[in-house]
Amino acid sequence: MSASLARTELVVRTIAQTAVDNETYFGELDAVVGDGDFGYSLARGFEKVLEGWDDIDRTDPGTFLKKTGMIISSRIGGTSGPIWGTAFLRAGMAAGSEEVDGARLVAMLRSAVEGIMARGQAELGDKTLLDALVPMTDRIEAELAAGADSAAVVAAAAETAEQAAEATIPMVARRGRAAYTGERSRGSVDAGARAVAVILAQISRAWTDQAGTDKESDA
Ligand SMILES: Nc1ncnc2c1ncn2[C@@H]1O[C@H](COP(=O)(O)OP(=O)(O)OP(=O)(O)O)[C@@H](O)[C@H]1O
Ligand SMILES: [Mg+2]
Repeated sequence: MSASLARTELVVRTIAQTAVDNETYFGELDAVVGDGDFGYSLARGFEKVLEGWDDIDRTDPGTFLKKTGMIISSRIGGTSGPIWGTAFLRAGMAAGSEEVDGARLVAMLRSAVEGIMARGQAELGDKTLLDALVPMTDRIEAELAAGADSAAVVAAAAETAEQAAEATIPMVARRGRAAYTGERSRGSVDAGARAVAVILAQISRAWTDQAGTDKESDA
């Protein structure tokens, strides 16, 4: 198996497991100003990914991501299904059949962000998961340009995702159910942005663990 595929699998599995493990927490976050279904939606979609894990086409990282996106889209209802499904699909399309290096990773994330923006009609500052994803992607690009190794890049991404999620607290929600509450949405963290931060913290942990078990060199 290629290193890129192994890393893609590690990341997707960690996202899926984190979504399942945090069903209650993510639901509670969404319940503050939304309708509380976010944790349930995410968990049902990603539990399907885990159930079908061995059968997902893993010809290359791009195919693996696209197939994962299709499972998510077919399983998750509401707003999050199309949004998360599109994100995986777009990342997979940007991956193509190539190995995933740093530049390609950034292209994949930018593509996922564009897909989410198109699907959700959302912009930066609307108090959505984009407000964590975009700063995180910018940080990854900056760390790669500075020559950081992969573990440092992932740790930096997690740090920025956490700070960016916190930064959604004073924002007013302009998309999703939370937007119905208007000014009342100020003062609580966005559930989607917080989910991105929690997922990144887990990916950073998993990445370090894996680096400890296999002695591959960082590209
Ligand atoms: N239009 C949108 N574009 C991008 N992200 C969105 C949008 N609407 C909601 N989100 C993100 O999704 C999270 C909530 O997901 P959830 O699936 O609960 O959607 P929702 O807004 O409650 O809508 P519904 O209950 O109809 O699915 C929010 O915290 C936000 O980060
Ligand atoms: Mg909701």
